[in-house]
Amino acid sequence: MSPAPDPTLFDKVVNLCKRRGFVFPSAEIYGGFRSTYDYGPVGVLLLRNVKEAWWRSMVQLRHDIVGLDAAILSPPAIWEASGHLQNFNDPLVDCRNCRERFRLDKLDDPNECPNCHAKGSFTEARHFNLMFKTYAGPVEGTGAEVYLRPETAQGMFVNFKNVLETSRKRPPFGIAQIGKSFRNEITPGNFVFRTREFEQMEMEYFVPPDEAEKWYGYWCHERLQWYVDLGIPDDQLRLRPHDEEELSHYSSATSDVEFLFPWGWDELEGIANRTDYDLRQHAQASGESLDYFDQALGERYVPYVIEPAAGATRTAMAFLMAAYDEEEVAREGQGQGESRTVLRFHPRIAPYKVAVLPLSKKSELQEPANEVLGLLQPHYMCDYDETQAIGRRYRRQDELGTPYCVTIDFDTLDDRAVTVRDRDSMAQDRVPIDALLDHLGPKLD
Ligand code: GAP
Repeated sequence: MSPAPDPTLFDKVVNLCKRRGFVFPSAEIYGGFRSTYDYGPVGVLLLRNVKEAWWRSMVQLRHDIVGLDAAILSPPAIWEASGHLQNFNDPLVDCRNCRERFRLDKLDDPNECPNCHAKGSFTEARHFNLMFKTYAGPVEGTGAEVYLRPETAQGMFVNFKNVLETSRKRPPFGIAQIGKSFRNEITPGNFVFRTREFEQMEMEYFVPPDEAEKWYGYWCHERLQWYVDLGIPDDQLRLRPHDEEELSHYSSATSDVEFLFPWGWDELEGIANRTDYDLRQHAQASGESLDYFDQALGERYVPYVIEPAAGATRTAMAFLMAAYDEEEVAREGQGQGESRTVLRFHPRIAPYKVAVLPLSKKSELQEPANEVLGLLQPHYMCDYDETQAIGRRYRRQDELGTPYCVTIDFDTLDDRAVTVRDRDSMAQDRVPIDALLDHLGPKLD
C-alpha cells in the first residue's frame, strides 16, 4: 500500500528551498513575477544533476540514442503541421462573480468557483491556446510571428532526416534533447510543478511500426525504474495508463509516471506512442520525405515514435520532496538531543558531494584545507565553509543533502588525516588525506 501524502511537506520544502538557496521567486526585489522561479547556487546544481543523470542513462550509456539541441524560437509552419496551433488548448472559464480564471478540466466541482464559492457563476468554456507568440525582427504583425516551443519534441521530428543522414543510426534509434519549453498555463502553481517556463527532457525513439507496442512497454518500464534507481521509494511512484478521452491529439497510447506529491498522485513524465503522426504531418507540410528505407528488408516505411517526455524542473521538485526527512538525533559531540532536517539525496542527485570544513578559521588549518579541496574538486562538486560552529555547519550540509563532510582539525597537522562524516548515519571515520579519494570513490561514483 502507498503511504498517505503529507500535506505539511510542501511548505517545509518550499521554505527550505528559499532558505538554503535552491529556488528563489523570480524578480523578487520587484515583488516577484507570478509563477516564475530562479534556481539559486544549490538549485542550479540539483537541476544540472537531474539533467545529467537523465542524459547519462538516455545517451551516454546507450549506442542507439543521440543528442540534439534545437532552437526555441520556431516558425508557425512547425506548429501548424504538428497540430499545436489547432489543438494545444485548455478549456478556460471565468467566474462572473470574482473574475478569477480557471482551467475547467482541473476544477473539483465544475459548478462551484474555488475562489469565492459562488455556484453556477462560470462563463462558457473557451479554448485557450497555450503557446507564447512573439515577433521576430523590428516589425510586428502578420508574417513576423514566431512561437516559443511548448515542447522540445518537434525539434527532433523536424531534424529526423538530418540526424538519420549524419549519425548512421537506423530504427530502432532515438534522439534525445533537454531544454526549455514555454506554455501560457492558465493556472500555474504548486511551486515549480506547473510553471510557464520550464525544462523538459524528451526522447523520440523511432521504430518499425510493427515493433511500436513492444518498445512502448520497454520505455514505460525503463523510465519508471530510472526514478527508483535514483532513490525515489517505489511506493511513491506508479505508472498510470491514460483513458481514451485523455490522450493527446497525436497519441494512440500514453502512460504517466506519477509521484505521490503532498497533494496526491501527479504526473512526472508521460510515455506516449505518437505513432507516425508527427513525421507524416511534417512530411506532408514541408514536402520533404521523412520515411526510412530498410535495405535488409527492402521495405520503406514511416517510423512510429515512442516518446518518454519528462520535466526536469518538476523532477527536481520530486527529488526534493522524496529526499526530505526530519529526525531526532543526539547533538554531535554532546549528549543532548535535537531535531535535524536532512535531504537524503542519492549521491548522483546531491548538489554538493562533499563539504570541506576546516574546524577553525585559524591560518594553520588553511593549508591542509586547501590541499583537501584541491584534491577533491577535480572529481566532485564541493562546498567549502569555515564559518560557525562545526555542529551548525553539519546541519547546514544536511539541509543541502551533502553526502559527506570532511573536517580538517588540529590533529590533521600531525597525522595528515581528516574526519569523514556520513550524512545519513552521522558516523565519523578518520581517513588519511592520501587515502581520501579511495575512501570516497566507491560511495560517490
Ligand atoms: N512532448 C510531449 C509533452 O510535452 P507533456 O505531458 O505535455 O508531454 C511532458 O509534457 C512533461 O513536461 C510533463 O510530464 C511534465 O513533467 C513537464 N511539464 C509539462 N508542462 C509543464 C509545466 N507547465 N511546468 C513544469 N513542467 C511541465
